[in-house]
Amino acid sequence: MPYASTQQLMRRACTAGVVIPAFNIPYLPMVEPVVKAIKDTNSVGLVMAARLEWEKFETGSLEALQAEYEKCKLPGHTRLHLDHVPVIDEDDLRVDFMEIIQRAVDAGYESVMVDGSRLSFAENVACTKEAADVAHAAGIPIEAELGAVMGHESGPLPPYEELFASGKGFTDPDEAKQFAGQSGCDWLSVAIGNIHGAISAAAKGKKKVAARLNIEHLDRIHKTTDIPLVLHGGTGIRKEYIMDSMKHGIAKINVATAIRQPYEAAIASGIEAAQQAVYDAMLVVIKEDLEVQDSAKILNPEG
Ligand code: 13P
Repeated sequence: MPYASTQQLMRRACTAGVVIPAFNIPYLPMVEPVVKAIKDTNSVGLVMAARLEWEKFETGSLEALQAEYEKCKLPGHTRLHLDHVPVIDEDDLRVDFMEIIQRAVDAGYESVMVDGSRLSFAENVACTKEAADVAHAAGIPIEAELGAVMGHESGPLPPYEELFASGKGFTDPDEAKQFAGQSGCDWLSVAIGNIHGAISAAAKGKKKVAARLNIEHLDRIHKTTDIPLVLHGGTGIRKEYIMDSMKHGIAKINVATAIRQPYEAAIASGIEAAQQAVYDAMLVVIKEDLEVQDSAKILNPEG
């Protein structure tokens, strides 16, 4: 039997109330322990890099990640995804996003994300549609973002509780419905209280705030859209909210900080020590934080 496509895996996750974690790779030696931990726990996960990981960390390029992934990929457990390709980046600069999406398609990525969340609604729809046409012509699904998942910007964030209480930047359920219908995106990243881990030099080693999620708001988005939803900023969200979110449409959770910080803390002792630290952190994320051990039995029985 052929292996399930990434789109099939996401649909199954959505229906079964199971989540597919997606792991960011800011340093190439992280690929091996990430894949090994996914396999050893008999789970399903995505290996991915965002543009900022080759611009601001050490991934090199999306092609370099693909080459590293190729050495250890396991079709029964892993898929390669391109995370955040912003149209306007975290430094407010315009990005040639279509060039990057095309390169990812050419390199064999199995899904991609275009991030037009810093644009107006109409511009976000238009840019997502342009990227979706290219992804779909290549037979792969595309993720987009609506609402503001903050944290990657270099300036200070407003106090978290203030942000959460005001609902500022949260994805609007009616807009989400229109966006899903008009943009052609297959999965939608939503803002419901989640924030990204900081990446600026001054803040990237700091512990993340224990974010909460507005599950009622998520449910409204889930009911108006008919596509798998994605939760960015997966590190540090309080567990009860994570577990609840899976019952309300979240099919993919992005995790970066929880595996990057242990690598950075251990790298002075050598690459092997840093890889071991990533592996250990992966086991905690998969088994304890998300409880997705053995998810391959449900998501990828073909594997
Ligand atoms: P964290 O750094 O909070 O895990 O967020 C990762 C992410 O959302 C990458 O897209």
